[in-house]
Amino acid sequence: RVGAIRFSSAEAAAVSLGEPQAPGGMAPTKDSENDSRKKTFSEILAERQVQAQRTVLINCPPNFNAKAFLKYLSQHGNIKNHFFYKSKAMYAVIEFSEKESITSLQDVITIPEFKDEYPIPFKSRILTLMLRKQSDPGSEQTQILCHRQTSIPVEMLLKKLCDAESVSEQLYLLTNECQLTEENTKLRFLACSLIQDIASAYVPDCIVKPFGSTVNTFGKLGCDLDMFLELNKVGKNSAKRKTSPFNIIYQMKKAPSERIAAQRILNMLGEFLDNSGPGCEGVQKILNARCPLVRFSHQPSGLQCDLTLNNRIALKSSELLYLYGSLDPRVRALAFSIRYWAWNHGLTSSIPGAWITNFSLTMMVLFFLQQRQPPIVPTLDQLKKLADAEDKEVIEGFDCTFVSNLNKIAPTSNTETLDVLLGDFFEFYGNFAFNKNSLNIRKGKEQNKPEASALHIQNPFEENLNISKNVNAAQLQRFVSLARDGAWILQQVEKRPLDNSKPWGLAALLQASEPGRVGKGFKRLNVLNSDRVKDLLNSLKM
Ligand code: GTP
Ligand code: MG
Repeated sequence: RVGAIRFSSAEAAAVSLGEPQAPGGMAPTKDSENDSRKKTFSEILAERQVQAQRTVLINCPPNFNAKAFLKYLSQHGNIKNHFFYKSKAMYAVIEFSEKESITSLQDVITIPEFKDEYPIPFKSRILTLMLRKQSDPGSEQTQILCHRQTSIPVEMLLKKLCDAESVSEQLYLLTNECQLTEENTKLRFLACSLIQDIASAYVPDCIVKPFGSTVNTFGKLGCDLDMFLELNKVGKNSAKRKTSPFNIIYQMKKAPSERIAAQRILNMLGEFLDNSGPGCEGVQKILNARCPLVRFSHQPSGLQCDLTLNNRIALKSSELLYLYGSLDPRVRALAFSIRYWAWNHGLTSSIPGAWITNFSLTMMVLFFLQQRQPPIVPTLDQLKKLADAEDKEVIEGFDCTFVSNLNKIAPTSNTETLDVLLGDFFEFYGNFAFNKNSLNIRKGKEQNKPEASALHIQNPFEENLNISKNVNAAQLQRFVSLARDGAWILQQVEKRPLDNSKPWGLAALLQASEPGRVGKGFKRLNVLNSDRVKDLLNSLKM
């Protein structure tokens, strides 16, 4: 049957209730069954980067025979992995076993010819499959499974949550439903690798690495892709220099400061992405920000990207969150759910402003877990004590040392359930003395606030900085009132009603943000929305 391809929008991850699943792609897997050592963050990252370099992204036409196409591609080498997904069009992600297969494939790829337009000939690994002739009517019909790359709608999630047995099960269910899948993680690493190819045209040997929610185990399907360009590796090969009487250096243009150099490089890359980067649309150069960046939409992957420069401390913070998220399943489920709750209530936003960021929010969850008796997660100082000589890392003068081997961290003896932890989290922050105290996850203790910001969370590595300096008093107040409401709602509807008549537990918490459903939530939300609009307008004015 000609062109009779049926697309099934498959749920990528099979969800089992009450059982936390490994975070897609960033699970600390072991090398083999006999090897008890879990891989470190750097090892997983390196593995994923190599995988991405062996991968191509192909825009596929409707009505094509996928099986025959895969067979055609395998003339160039063994296909180790592949999957299909839909963004604006359907795409195939094809991972070869060997990088050389891509070179072989490139030998048969041609540059397109357009009628009234002209191609800008940057040869990337984003390709388009064209059909030379109509499919053979006798050819086998292929059913293509398209992997979902976005979170399920809130209403559908609420229904699922209501069917769970306990609040704890609800938190695991939410995490399993909305976390990054293996395929989405692969796509994110591929997007970084594609941007690296473009950047390499200017700066050979540079590396583009993902950080933030793509790798910290708390990423939700649909979250932005934070990436940074590492230049420092270039020209650092000084081993031979020391033994020779000669020293040859590159002639380079100079900039008056590191910040200005970063702005110039990002400006140049922004232009290049805009003019020649296949699939890069809506490029914005935000060069005057504290951390200058280029923001763009990567159309083929459907990812919104933020590209920064030499952001090694940010990668280290992401590794720290990854480590905490991998220690105990409750940590990831609680932090993931709190981040979802905050997003659902409009407490966080992808637009920069006076609101709490997901990074700060995650630190608040970790700090809360350090306060339990016995603590559920160790302090950063304790993680530093467990570090090996190879773990020692000083970045820009800041000591970022902590243990990388997960096996060295003893599991907690705390057995509290997430039912208890969720309610207590809201109570803890509903009553926290934010006016006097600062949160410090390095020491695991509250400290006197050194400055007047509304919310003070000490940067784990750059200890003189406050990661939530941007948060204003109104936004903090919204967080506190929503936390108090959360504690109250959970006390009222903690258990599943026998007749399934009302949303309960986490579903009630999330539903309280939907206007009209819960009277109390509705009134409060109108006020919040107007605050939010004001803040948005102010941030735009700034
Ligand atoms: P979403 O992008 O909102 O899904 O969450 P995320 O986990 O990626 O968090 P966010 O985008 O807020 O931050 C990404 C990374 O940037 C964090 O993991 C940190 O490494 C870094 N970062 C964010 N805020 C700060 C800050 O105030 N100071 C420093 N030094 N780093 C920060
Ligand atoms: Mg982010």
